Amino acid sequence: MWLFWLLTALTCRVQAKAVFAHFMVTNSENYTLADWESDISLAVTAHIDAFALNIAVGDTANSQLANAFTAADSLDFKLFISFDYAGNGAWSQDEVYDILSEYIDLDAYYITDDQPLVSTFEGPANAADWTYLKEYFNCMFIPDWSSLGAKAALELGTADGLFSWAAWPWGDTEMNTYTDASYIQYLDDLPYMMAVSPWFFTNLPGYNKNWLWRGDHLWYERWNQVLFLDPPFVEIISWNDYGESHYIGPLRDYAFAAFSIGEAPYNYADEMPHDGWRAFLPYMIDLYKEGTATITQEGIVAWYRVNPKTACDTGDTSGNTASELQLEFEPYDIVDDEIMYSALLGSTADVTVTVGDTELTGAWTSTPDGGIGIYHGSVSFSGLTGDVTVVLSRDGASLATVAGKAITSDCTDDIENWNAWVGSALSSATVSATPALSVSDQVCVNGTGWENFEGICGFACEYGYCPVSACTCNLMGAQKTAPNATGVEGYPIAGEDASYDGLCSYDCNHGYCPPSACSTVSAALSTPTVSDFTLPRHRYGSIPAPASLVHNLQYHLHTKLCRPNSHGPPFSLAFSGRYYGGSSPTPVKK
Ligand SMILES: *[C@@H]1O[C@H](CO)[C@@H](O)[C@H](O)[C@H]1NC(C)=O
Ligand SMILES: *[C@@H]1O[C@H](CO)[C@@H](O)[C@H](O)[C@H]1NC(C)=O
Ligand SMILES: *[C@@H]1O[C@H](CO)[C@@H](O)[C@H](O)[C@H]1NC(C)=O
Repeated sequence: MWLFWLLTALTCRVQAKAVFAHFMVTNSENYTLADWESDISLAVTAHIDAFALNIAVGDTANSQLANAFTAADSLDFKLFISFDYAGNGAWSQDEVYDILSEYIDLDAYYITDDQPLVSTFEGPANAADWTYLKEYFNCMFIPDWSSLGAKAALELGTADGLFSWAAWPWGDTEMNTYTDASYIQYLDDLPYMMAVSPWFFTNLPGYNKNWLWRGDHLWYERWNQVLFLDPPFVEIISWNDYGESHYIGPLRDYAFAAFSIGEAPYNYADEMPHDGWRAFLPYMIDLYKEGTATITQEGIVAWYRVNPKTACDTGDTSGNTASELQLEFEPYDIVDDEIMYSALLGSTADVTVTVGDTELTGAWTSTPDGGIGIYHGSVSFSGLTGDVTVVLSRDGASLATVAGKAITSDCTDDIENWNAWVGSALSSATVSATPALSVSDQVCVNGTGWENFEGICGFACEYGYCPVSACTCNLMGAQKTAPNATGVEGYPIAGEDASYDGLCSYDCNHGYCPPSACSTVSAALSTPTVSDFTLPRHRYGSIPAPASLVHNLQYHLHTKLCRPNSHGPPFSLAFSGRYYGGSSPTPVKK
């Protein structure tokens, strides 16, 4: 009997994995109870566990919390509060106390590990308030203090776990997981909340925000990274932040205040639905949470920008942003004129894309283990305009068709819309297909690394050796047979650091020993003062910054440090080195 009791007690303490979506309460100002029920039903259908309700201090829209909790209660959905300390300035301890007192005991409030969950957007200067608040409410406090990075955020002493806002890639690169790795390392056994976002474009001069981060393949890549890193929590950024173009919830024309208040050149979310990005969430979220999922309906999701990237004025939008201390690019240098598509399939199928009168045969650049799961690819639409059709077919028979918005060089107000149009279509036939291997029985089968790590990570990650501190894994699958061991002992070349250790050892032993990184002779290593993965800072150091950048940087630093309603990782310095606290984590075999 005691054993049963013990097991039950242990089971109760186990944190269930969960997926949340960041919800901007300010945009719900005009919501009725029915609107809340509608949004919540869509989230339930997507297998999302809870909304993180982002509230800014003093916002009249916060009175909507009552409706939100009523709707959630009736639909068996959960909610928790995310205090936004940047939107309208810092919350006082009393104000937080008042809000939590009103809602934290409600049945619809999200509980994890027997504790109600509370989060923030920024607010590290108020970290000490949470000593009292946590004691009083017995809550689990997982703030986003990305402006500090993991190490400094933990040193403040009140976080029970951390949420990292760094969800977008740098420049024209694909998303990597170095920031996630630094959180996972510093958090040790404390829970990490990983951010997943499909896109980021904002042009709201009224909020001093006007930049683009590369979206392109992000929604597909980042979910695969979730499967590999397997964090306890995932938060989707966002449900309804229209002004930053990363919404996955429905468009509502009575929720578009950001565009007028933010003095947008025009409403760049209007007629740009993102609902298609939810289509495969039930599958991906089940894979992440349960390790397996069954496909019952095949389908395709397609997304793209509707203006060729050099067709119109940039709208002064920068690629990356100096307000986050990033090197800036032209926006058209960091995105591709491509139609991206992902398909959920029980077996392989074909994809054909038509733009105007031109038919393009799509290929898959990535396919799931055993052919069951999510396939991904893209085609270039460079030089083409017109109506877009994306057809999924098998043996010549159509399974599903996305009739997309036309691509046009005739931009609204002659300014590029850097937002994405997203569409999806599901097959009417039912199938039943389950991946042969649970995610926990899969290993990394495709990974990469930053600069000098690209080759050595690419080789090792394919065979399941993909240390998170040095490499990014982009696909899981069945263990592949590695080339036979050669017995060659590999070491980092002289002057490199210990981040290379495990990789050189593994790679050289399996027949890949590139002299640019590895050697068969043990040599003196360096102790890095900056992480190997802080590339943009290296670049600042090694090439003179263009005058325009210096100007920009100073301009942004002096004028843009205060960014109301801003949801970029504020000065998060995802690549500035601060996130590693100046030291390189030791490679861990994953
Ligand atoms: C709510 O409706 C009013 C009146 O139409 C509008 O001015 C305001 O921008 C709307 N709020 C949001 C968040 O869109
Ligand atoms: C890994 O994926 C990339 C992009 O999908 C692809 O180009 C590359 O060939 C893959 N590498 C391996 C080893 O399969
Ligand atoms: C690896 O070693 C085994 C056993 O010695 C041998 O049978 C096999 O052919 C080798 N594989 C390769 C790819 O060399």
